[in-house]
Amino acid sequence: MNGAALAVTTDGVPGTEALAARLAAGLRPGDLIALDGQLGAGKTAFVRGLAAGLGVDARVVRSPTFVLHHVYGAPPRLHHLDLYRLGPGAGIGLLDLDGLLESAPVAVEWAGYADLRPWRPLRLLLDIAGDQLRRIEARDLEQAPARLVAAWRVAVAGT
Ligand SMILES: Nc1ncnc2c1ncn2[C@@H]1O[C@H](COP(=O)(O)OP(=O)(O)O)[C@@H](O)[C@H]1O
Ligand SMILES: [Mg+2]
Repeated sequence: MNGAALAVTTDGVPGTEALAARLAAGLRPGDLIALDGQLGAGKTAFVRGLAAGLGVDARVVRSPTFVLHHVYGAPPRLHHLDLYRLGPGAGIGLLDLDGLLESAPVAVEWAGYADLRPWRPLRLLLDIAGDQLRRIEARDLEQAPARLVAAWRVAVAGT
């Protein structure tokens, strides 16, 4: 399964949110979702779907570009990070990713700015494929835990 990838294209925000909500059904604390893609690719929309799927009022989900970290739910149901402000080569030591993962799944926007491989993320690359079209591809599936890959397959199958 070297370099294995599995992609889906959504047509509109509701499609992206629903895909993410289906993935959320298979998530548990310790799971890391690493999101990449240009501005407007739908990373935050995807996180909104994750939140909804985890039972959080998704209206509170905003891009945390300026605060780095949002936590949704008490006790936490989802952590939401955005590394944009840190830039390429981001050092994430101060974020205590291990501590966050203990309490809930973690979704990271601009994940490619940091080396998250030690945490075995499900890497999702979002791409603008048209006005309302977003291609969402899981990358490096062989590096993610099998259960997380299975959850992604289930989410995609529901499309
Ligand atoms: N299929 C789609 N999935 C997600 N967003 C979409 C889709 N089609 C159009 N959009 C639009 O693209 C933008 C995505 O914004 P956002 O989720 O904030 O992206 P990012 O966090 O990657 O910068 C929104 O304006 C949304 O309305
Ligand atoms: Mg965003």
